[in-house]
Amino acid sequence: MNSRPKSMIAGTGSAVPEKVLTNADLEKIVETSDEWIRERTGIERRHILEDGLTNSDLAARAAEQALKKAGLTPDQIECLIVATITPDMGFPSTACAVQSKLEAFNAAAFDISAACSGFLYGLIMGDSFIASGLYKNVLVIGSEVLSRMTDWEDRATCVLFGDGAGAAVLVPSGDNRGLLSAYMKSDGRLGYLLNCPGGGVTYPASHETVDQRLHFIKMEGREVYKHAVRTMVDAAVHSLELAGLTAKDIDLLITHQANKRIIHAVVQRLKLPDEKVFINIEEYGNTSAASIPIAMNQAIEEGRLKEGQLCLMVAFGGGFTWASSLVRI
Ligand SMILES: CC(C)(COP(=O)(O)OP(=O)(O)OC[C@H]1O[C@@H](n2cnc3c(N)ncnc32)[C@H](O)[C@@H]1OP(=O)(O)O)[C@@H](O)C(=O)NCCC(=O)NCCS
Repeated sequence: MNSRPKSMIAGTGSAVPEKVLTNADLEKIVETSDEWIRERTGIERRHILEDGLTNSDLAARAAEQALKKAGLTPDQIECLIVATITPDMGFPSTACAVQSKLEAFNAAAFDISAACSGFLYGLIMGDSFIASGLYKNVLVIGSEVLSRMTDWEDRATCVLFGDGAGAAVLVPSGDNRGLLSAYMKSDGRLGYLLNCPGGGVTYPASHETVDQRLHFIKMEGREVYKHAVRTMVDAAVHSLELAGLTAKDIDLLITHQANKRIIHAVVQRLKLPDEKVFINIEEYGNTSAASIPIAMNQAIEEGRLKEGQLCLMVAFGGGFTWASSLVRI
């Protein structure tokens, strides 16, 4: 990648539902314990979207914040990307619903499906659009309502996930701020380890598929764990190499928030001190494509990430997909 960034993040935002589900609440739903969940995952709470609201409602709220901070109005957005695996419906896209809610009528709007790596895939796609000269202002959103794809009878998965949305506005970079590297990978052979089989055209909705609970997330946790550590380290190392930098150079690491133990394993391999690692999984659980933009927005709001600093973002997710990007904020 060229050393001079082509696009930079001009504003970020996030939105999470008010309703909170604690580990103690989960103890009343499935056979689990606060201690087990904290020890194995680091999660204490997650936020659950209220009935009657949908993915695009959360996404639009996050986007409004990001636009405000970027000093742009919705009609100035030329491309609106929503990364999600929990869309409002089969089609049209959640991005089109967000476009309508924001009144961002000058934008081309579409969804991408790259599971928990989706936001970074979207960010890299937006950066490429700006680099090519196709668009100037791109809105990238990661937004998920995983609570509606969660099997609340399966203790191995239902304790992990939460709802939320995060957004970033990308604009052309005039200086050294912006994306310094971009790395995306996939391995479709591992798709069976983490998926939601029902509802597509392989298993279209029927009484049978509902009885078989095929419309919920299925996961082989231990296998996913192993690949998560391996792929996130791979992604982190590649982004640093592409930018000609080392782990010592970065100011903050933001990984996909799937499990505190996975994050610690990655941090150990990168030999990073704890103060350079951002973790908020205790509050939100795993919000898939929303986890990195929610964390980035929080890190900026809390002053953990300041203009000019280097942030390495790393994600992995179903597919398998993994990705990373080094950004000067
Ligand atoms: C899911 C995960 C936390 C489970 O932790 P683990 O240490 O691998 O635990 P295991 O699945 O081996 O289960 C250990 C035991 O705990 C039990 N268990 C599973 N879920 C439980 C729960 N919520 N509460 C209490 N016990 C539970 C299992 O039944 C098993 O019992 P057994 O030994 O009697 O068979 C861990 O594998 C993980 O985080 N994997 C990655 C998941 C992920 O990141 N997914 C998203 C990718 S984007």
